[in-house]
Amino acid sequence: MKSIRIFAPATIANLSCGFDVLGCCLDTIGDEMTLTLTASNEIRITKITGAQLPLETTKNVAGVAVNALVAALNQPVGVDIEIHKRIKAGSGIGSSAASSAGAVWAVNHLLGNPFTPHELISFAMEGERLASGNAHADNVAPALLGGFTFVRSYAPLDVLKLPSPKELVATVIHPQIEIKTADARAIIKQNVALKKAITQWGNLGGFISGLFTEDYNLISRSLDDVIIEPLRSILIPEFETVKEVALSTGALGCGISGSGPSIFTLNRGYQTAQQVAQAIKNVYQHTGIDFEIHISKINTQGIKTLSS
Ligand code: HSE
Repeated sequence: MKSIRIFAPATIANLSCGFDVLGCCLDTIGDEMTLTLTASNEIRITKITGAQLPLETTKNVAGVAVNALVAALNQPVGVDIEIHKRIKAGSGIGSSAASSAGAVWAVNHLLGNPFTPHELISFAMEGERLASGNAHADNVAPALLGGFTFVRSYAPLDVLKLPSPKELVATVIHPQIEIKTADARAIIKQNVALKKAITQWGNLGGFISGLFTEDYNLISRSLDDVIIEPLRSILIPEFETVKEVALSTGALGCGISGSGPSIFTLNRGYQTAQQVAQAIKNVYQHTGIDFEIHISKINTQGIKTLSS
């Protein structure tokens, strides 16, 4: 039976100035999945380790995403899916996206790549719809395309891959509390003051321009969120202190990763990323909340084959 074992990476969505449109792919944290073609004509989730998640295909983000792919293919497919979760649900680093994107990427590979990576984004988004009630693409796109990605439009879907300046290294702290994306979305205001919108789209343009020109100073100036962060940061213990300490230690920017509780920083070089990790650790050690810290360069490839 044709089978593939893959690494399905964690991702940072929003990146402060790009709510629902910007994301980037990490390298040092992700799930493992094994997918095997079968003669059953059924999509089955056969095993999940590392998390309590439904095996029922229609209730599991990976199952729903693969169902969307099979519907578009319009021919029967049999596949068994094993998921080994290392990214916790409600972490803010794209746990549901890793499963959804990983599953469609692997099935597509096993079938001889009938779809392009860009086409897979809309299937994986169905997993996000199940997980959070909203089919956002800012985690699944960087997982599928690698590097930094930008959703220019949702209708029609138009996703671009952006350059990854070589020296960028992310440090992410994941406090071990769960914030459901649906809850974090419920507290966002539906209307934005024009003045704030101007600031935000100025920063978004600046950030993207900084990626193209490898202008680390411009990237740093642009990593600012005047719309979402002020509303969501109250959900994350010691957010302001972590941000203050990260920036004073040399991080280019610091913000909420996705819908939290993880907090990301982008740094110029590995040494600064390590120093920032230590500084954040010093803050969080006093909270009594367990946490994990990940340091990762930008993964420009996205999902990776481990064996086939
Ligand atoms: N853009 C989404 C949100 C990402 O912030 O709600 C969720 O990981």
